[in-house]
Amino acid sequence: MVQPEQQRRAYLQAMGIDVWLPRDAEEPEVLPMASSAAALDWPELRECVASCTRCELSQSRTNTVFGVGDPHADWLIIGEAPGAEEDRRGEPFVGRAGQLLDQMLLAIGQSRDRVFIANILKCRPPNNRDPKTAEAAACREYLDRQIALIKPKIILAVGKIAAQNLLGSDDPVGRMRGRPHDLDGIPLVVTYHPAYLLRSPSQKAKSWSDLCLAARLAAEAAA
Ligand code: URA
Repeated sequence: MVQPEQQRRAYLQAMGIDVWLPRDAEEPEVLPMASSAAALDWPELRECVASCTRCELSQSRTNTVFGVGDPHADWLIIGEAPGAEEDRRGEPFVGRAGQLLDQMLLAIGQSRDRVFIANILKCRPPNNRDPKTAEAAACREYLDRQIALIKPKIILAVGKIAAQNLLGSDDPVGRMRGRPHDLDGIPLVVTYHPAYLLRSPSQKAKSWSDLCLAARLAAEAAA
């Protein structure tokens, strides 16, 4: 059984942070991290995610949520983390917010099976709390590998958690949306999370303009 302190050290180690111990401390027993995902192909990556124990969310999840759609999609949509329904079904954005996301995609001539939809986290945080920094860090390699394999023409980050994690920023969505960003050479557009749009429908017009910007950037990248 891995103790919490050992797990903490393993997360820090995985994030490249040195762990200092007193000279007379016993050699730390380090949680074996899954080997690097950076060289995995799509089926291997899927399997690796399904059996992941990199963070404590593996203990409370029902299913991992790898993502859904076309592995060669032009559009990659990235949300926050699975909720209760997504955890139960193993698919992202299947609740009410997901239905609105589907409508947003239809409005720009896309669909759930033509784009790829993923999240910052592959496992549900209990009670839908925000992802912890260590959880997002432990999961990031999977998302990075998905991005490398999909090679999308445009990334749409929906909501604060996705945008802040991807862009390494503390800015609110209102300051990040409405303009192009760059993620390692891939154009990225930030927009409001569909769950927020359900609560604040007056913001839908801004989201529509973000989608139009993303469509323009995707077309430019494809030209
Ligand atoms: N919200 C998200 O950000 N992702 C999901 O998969 C579901 C709801």
